[in-house]
Amino acid sequence: DWTMAEFRAAKIAEIRAQVGTGRVICGLSGGVDSAVAAVLIHEAIGEQLTCVFVDHGLMRAGEADQVVSLFRNHYNIPLVHVNAETLFLNGLAGLTDPEAKRKFIGKTFIEVFEEEAKKIGGADFLAQGTLYPDVIESVSFTGGPSVTIKSHHNVGGLPERMNMKLVEPLRELFKDEVRALGRELGLPDIFVGRHPFPGPGLAIRIPGEVTKERCDILRKADAIYLEEIRNAGLYDAIWQAFAVLLPVRTVGVMGDHRTYDYVLALRAVTSTDGMTAVAFQFPGDFLPRVATRIVNEVRGINRVTYDYTSKPPGTIEWE
Ligand code: XMP
Repeated sequence: DWTMAEFRAAKIAEIRAQVGTGRVICGLSGGVDSAVAAVLIHEAIGEQLTCVFVDHGLMRAGEADQVVSLFRNHYNIPLVHVNAETLFLNGLAGLTDPEAKRKFIGKTFIEVFEEEAKKIGGADFLAQGTLYPDVIESVSFTGGPSVTIKSHHNVGGLPERMNMKLVEPLRELFKDEVRALGRELGLPDIFVGRHPFPGPGLAIRIPGEVTKERCDILRKADAIYLEEIRNAGLYDAIWQAFAVLLPVRTVGVMGDHRTYDYVLALRAVTSTDGMTAVAFQFPGDFLPRVATRIVNEVRGINRVTYDYTSKPPGTIEWE
């Protein structure tokens, strides 16, 4: 039975042995996993590591700034911040199929990442915050035909193309263990305790076509929902909470006006590893209060629903 301090020391030795004097590049997603992997690797090899944050414009409100300031100011880890919002949104125009959206984002992410890696003179190793559930879930389920439920977006495909070896120090860990390791490494609590956020970002929380307008509407609604969850002291009791903007418009009434706007779905689940999940039961008037705030404060949404589906048979994300 390992303590996190022992795991940390062992991994640092392992990373040093694997990397030697080589150069490592690490893609940051804004999530806990890649941040913990980067900080651990930085501790092992210092300046041999460069982080690249490809900002696809599909982040939540304020998220890109948080990542950049954590790395540059708090840790002083070299970080290349690429703003690629226009590239991603242009390519997503007209795409509605969930796997087509995921594949476009994964492929484009690789292209942008590759270009940035070239600019900094390349690297011998690629670091990723791959976790144990990522390893099993995106490959196949045993006992039947090999089925891809969702093409998980990390930076798969890069090592072969760029002739780099992988450094994946979190491959044996579950989420709760990554958090414990993050705390062990001194990452701030607001970062370590953060709910998981998928690589393709808000694109998979907008069924149908992703547009800048829809992303902006979703960001506002999501921020209100999360603010209420934090204020109610419920954030840490929930594995993951987020809003989903449905490409469906319904009729409503505001004052003496008829409205015809989008529907928003709220999702919150409890889980221990993301492999199975149950809808969170909010107390009393929480959901109606959030629904009222969102409809009053976010132009473009006039109806709010709550998703009670467990995983399985549902998945946590809607796409
Ligand atoms: P699902 O929707 O498959 O999600 O029940 C399980 C967990 O994985 C997250 N997720 C992703 N994480 N890249 C990631 O890094 C992805 O492409 C991706 N898709 C889903 C999801 O947010 C949940 O925590």
